[in-house]
Amino acid sequence: MSNNNELPVMDIDDIPVNPSTNPWLSDVIANRRNLLKGGLGLALGGFLGGSLSGCAKTNETIHEATSPLVPLKNVSPKIGFTSVAIQHAVDFDRVLVADGYAARAFFSWGDEVVAGAVPWKADASNTWQEQQLQAGQNHDGMAYFPFADAPNEHGLLVINHEYTNPTLHPNGPTETRDAQGVLHRPEHEVLKEQAAHGVSVIEIKRDQENQWQRVKNSLFNRRLTANTPMGIAGPAAGTEHLKTAQDPTGTRVLGTLNNCSMGKTPWGTYLICEENWNNYFVNRDSADWQQRVSHKRYGISNGVNSSKYYWETVDPRFDATPTDKQYFKGFVNEPNRFGWVVEFDPFNPDSLPQKRTALGRYARECATVMVGDDGEVAIYSGDDTRGEYIYKFVAQERFDKTNPKTKSDFLDKGILYVALFHADGRGEWLPLVWGERGLTARNGFMNQADVLINARAAADILGATPMDRPEWVAVDPRTRELYVTLTNNIERGIKVDQPLDTANSRKENHHGQILRWAEKNSNPAATEFTWEIFLLAGDSAQTSVPENQQGNIIGDMFSCPDGLWFDADGRLWIETDFDDAEDVYQPMGCNQLLCADPVSRNVKRFLVGPRGCEITGLTGTPDGKSLWLNIQHPGISYPASDGKTRPRSTTVLVTKNDGGVIGT
Ligand code: FEO
Ligand code: CA
Ligand code: CA
Repeated sequence: MSNNNELPVMDIDDIPVNPSTNPWLSDVIANRRNLLKGGLGLALGGFLGGSLSGCAKTNETIHEATSPLVPLKNVSPKIGFTSVAIQHAVDFDRVLVADGYAARAFFSWGDEVVAGAVPWKADASNTWQEQQLQAGQNHDGMAYFPFADAPNEHGLLVINHEYTNPTLHPNGPTETRDAQGVLHRPEHEVLKEQAAHGVSVIEIKRDQENQWQRVKNSLFNRRLTANTPMGIAGPAAGTEHLKTAQDPTGTRVLGTLNNCSMGKTPWGTYLICEENWNNYFVNRDSADWQQRVSHKRYGISNGVNSSKYYWETVDPRFDATPTDKQYFKGFVNEPNRFGWVVEFDPFNPDSLPQKRTALGRYARECATVMVGDDGEVAIYSGDDTRGEYIYKFVAQERFDKTNPKTKSDFLDKGILYVALFHADGRGEWLPLVWGERGLTARNGFMNQADVLINARAAADILGATPMDRPEWVAVDPRTRELYVTLTNNIERGIKVDQPLDTANSRKENHHGQILRWAEKNSNPAATEFTWEIFLLAGDSAQTSVPENQQGNIIGDMFSCPDGLWFDADGRLWIETDFDDAEDVYQPMGCNQLLCADPVSRNVKRFLVGPRGCEITGLTGTPDGKSLWLNIQHPGISYPASDGKTRPRSTTVLVTKNDGGVIGT
């Protein structure tokens, strides 16, 4: 929708990269996926080996989620507030939280971060150099890192800035079309957009009145942007596919892009996730693009410009068209250097962030860490595109809770798996290991780096289950059961390679669902699991909407679950991201934060955000008494809420008026 400055604020999440028309390492692979989806997989049995029996299952016709309930071991957590009503007003422009709670804007786009920063200017006239020291736009995934001596009063807040809005510039972005139809951008605008991407680290502390404040000019305060030097580590580092004219080593890269959700490790690092990075690149060479899986399978533009930002007209590394005039064909490999998890230590402001290639490359939504009884570590991620997959990485080494300092290469060794959901409530993790299950030279994979860089194509061969846009994963701290939001998928049951199945059971799925599973023996390293649908989001069944828009929520209805987070007591917090201007979502009003009981499945609406926003990024203090969430791309004038000031993505602090635990 438009804000008062007439600059449309966009949500770039709903990216229609279409796997069914996607390219493959070879025609063999293309045929493979189509055959499998058509139920003809058995014809290839000898060729594909062990994964086949699972693949054939994915074509079964299932109308209901009928899989057996995963037994829960717990009593309900306390959820004590009164639900907030749906907000339908088109001019709703504030944050409404349950009675007995306060929600205040804490950290907005343009706020000062690094020493030397100047204040935000309401006309967006801050320069790109000024933006480099200020908060970026589109606050997304976020985590609180406590200081050990005062964990509930003093910490670092680490916040992703996913992308930029037209509001970044005084009059929106400037685009000039040349005679060849190519759109050009002014350099200073591109540099400002690059500076508004990335991550903010801010030190925060309770003051003498017990109020949280940002610590100005803290040495911990840091901005990472699309131009911050970073390392590349793990099996793909240094390989031919990661070398560019600017980096002949394949181990150094500038910046991180489209940082959506995140992860937090028990050894004290933050995991940045690179989601819709494909929108930043163009490969204008059609013949090359057609056969280059690492571009085409990920939806990199083959037009005259990149899909959205057009940075390539002033920054050559975003032009991934191969050229013989430069070493390593110029920047044809630059896109291969995005789509990773980036690990960094927020307590070490001089540390070099590292892209961990062992975890695979895709449109990575999140990197949720689970640790087992014996220190087994798994990291779970969704690939948020229609019909893409859910992955986990199991580290080779174990985490020692009694000595939490890990080696710096802890995440560089391990096995990447992709999920296969059987119709009967069982599931399997299929290893993406070179040389096994068809991940061989015969199918174009020459080594493990090929498998990791082209994780989607490797997962196709294994016959993984294409999901309804997997977003966040959360771990129940009491049971170690895992939950994933499948936000929506209007192609489900429409595209031939996305047939209905038990995990993705609604045709043209507008509202999404939450699925949960339990690893065998609660072991993060297990290769088998059991699963069920926790809830189907959507309108309540009493309404007259079509069947595919009806949910089965017990309690307060919502749509398009996205952010997902457990607090320490086992309350499941659900954040929504639907387009509140679209007809199908009108019954839901504005986007919301809800709280679910994992035992009774009862859902209560805790908070509603301003018109035009999505709700995302959730973290809190260990005592559960301070909670931060993000209002991303508000549409009118939040946080000023005066009907005229340019809207700003904002971190909001929620506290309970009696000082108690949030949600009780
Ligand atoms: Fe950036 Fe899929 O959310
Ligand atoms: Ca998301
Ligand atoms: Ca989303």
